Amino acid sequence: MSTSEQPERIDHQRNRVTVVGLGYLGATHAICMAKLGHRVIGVDVDADKVAALQDGALPFHEPGLQEELSGALATHRLSFTTDFDRAVEHGDTLFVCVGTPQKEGTDAADLTFVDAAFDALAARLTRRALIVGKSTVPVGTAQRLARRVAAASPAGDDVEVAWNPEFLREGFAVEDTLHPDRLVFGVASDWALRRLTQVLGPVLSTGVPAIVCDLPTAELVKVAANAFLATKISFINAMAEICEAAGADVGLLAQALGHDSRIGSRFLKPGLGFGGGCLPKDIRAFAHRAEELGVGGTLTFLREVDQVNLRRRARMVDLIRELADGDLRGKRIAALGASFKPDSDDVRDAPALEVARMLAMEGAHVRVYDPAAAANAHRIYPDLDYAASLAAAVDDADVVALLTEWQEFIDADPESMGRHVRHRRVADGRRVLDAARYRLAGWDYRALGGPERIVSVPEENRTGEFPATALR
Ligand code: UDX
Repeated sequence: MSTSEQPERIDHQRNRVTVVGLGYLGATHAICMAKLGHRVIGVDVDADKVAALQDGALPFHEPGLQEELSGALATHRLSFTTDFDRAVEHGDTLFVCVGTPQKEGTDAADLTFVDAAFDALAARLTRRALIVGKSTVPVGTAQRLARRVAAASPAGDDVEVAWNPEFLREGFAVEDTLHPDRLVFGVASDWALRRLTQVLGPVLSTGVPAIVCDLPTAELVKVAANAFLATKISFINAMAEICEAAGADVGLLAQALGHDSRIGSRFLKPGLGFGGGCLPKDIRAFAHRAEELGVGGTLTFLREVDQVNLRRRARMVDLIRELADGDLRGKRIAALGASFKPDSDDVRDAPALEVARMLAMEGAHVRVYDPAAAANAHRIYPDLDYAASLAAAVDDADVVALLTEWQEFIDADPESMGRHVRHRRVADGRRVLDAARYRLAGWDYRALGGPERIVSVPEENRTGEFPATALR
């Protein structure tokens, strides 16, 4: 009997899973696979990260994941190592979750880590196994890697490659892994599909739809989804630019558009725009890949999506400057938020931090406060001043700038905050503060995306029917 005809293990509890790369995606995936009942080894070249995880300490901020890590370690089904020999020896299904950052000096994705991970696995695999890529890669990468692995591995064609993209959002990592909107299985054989179905069976059994497709389609689903989401955000931010020029209110516009069920209100929130470790670099790499494929013209709009997004940061600086009497030099600005979104300590391509940097470049004295991301922000921009609390950040401020919509900022009381500042002036970059409350407390409130004066629509009428009296 050839190795490919050997009977399958059918009990998913007995699956032996290896996860390569223990960053955000990989650590979450390893923990969740153990939670599903598999025996899991996570492997990474970063010894500090491995030691932390093995000690039960999550090396990044993600609500709920710390408890899941402790629970999974207690079952003894999960362990972490830097030893690739041990990790490859263990797994029959080996997930690759390493990063694909933007390559220095170009829009292309840097595939160094992906290639190195596949090479490390291929060289060690001496038996039938499935390598499953989860990293976000340019379309065509999986087929290239499949050829490379088959050529390099002692097991030859018995090592197969599949692609199973991940759609997890920071802040919802566990939920998005165990209860995703859909699963995508890019496979080259029935055997690979059976293997994937076996490992992800517990997720499938909850009724999650699965799309089974070829390798390039699976790769494309991920980048197309991110491109669509980025386009939706930049669409509403382009409308914000129009609103600013025309004296209209993009908040009410977005609300009205969102009620159209064909459009929907999710990812239609105007403000400082998108950042993070995925959307910005993924749309750039996608446009770059289209050019390589000779169809660059089809995705030129993604360049504009990127530009609209970056212009929001410059416009926010304009707004803060306007509030600071037209000159930022020597002005004290409280920058509320550094992470790219709330409930995250991730500052990669964070609009908030970029605005803080631009303000400092114009001579403002910027004091940044973020409930979770200060340490990461300090590593990138050590020259900015970091406050330990909201009160310390706004102390004596000429302008308060809300840059990331943490709940702590939304809940802050404008009256008591007003007692700390030098001038009651606030620029709301995420349009989340209660304009009426701020104005009542004597603040000069300005929101990114206008209008100059907020139209006062009673709360009860914002989404409902107007009473007949209001229409007379
Ligand atoms: C994103 C995708 O959602 C996820 O599916 C993919 O796997 C990875 O990239 P994430 O980067 O965690 O996830 O953040 P997400 O919640 O999507 O937000 C991205 C950015 O868009 C944030 O900076 C957020 O502030 C911004 N955003 C989001 C808006 O500006 N407006 C919106 O309406 C929604």
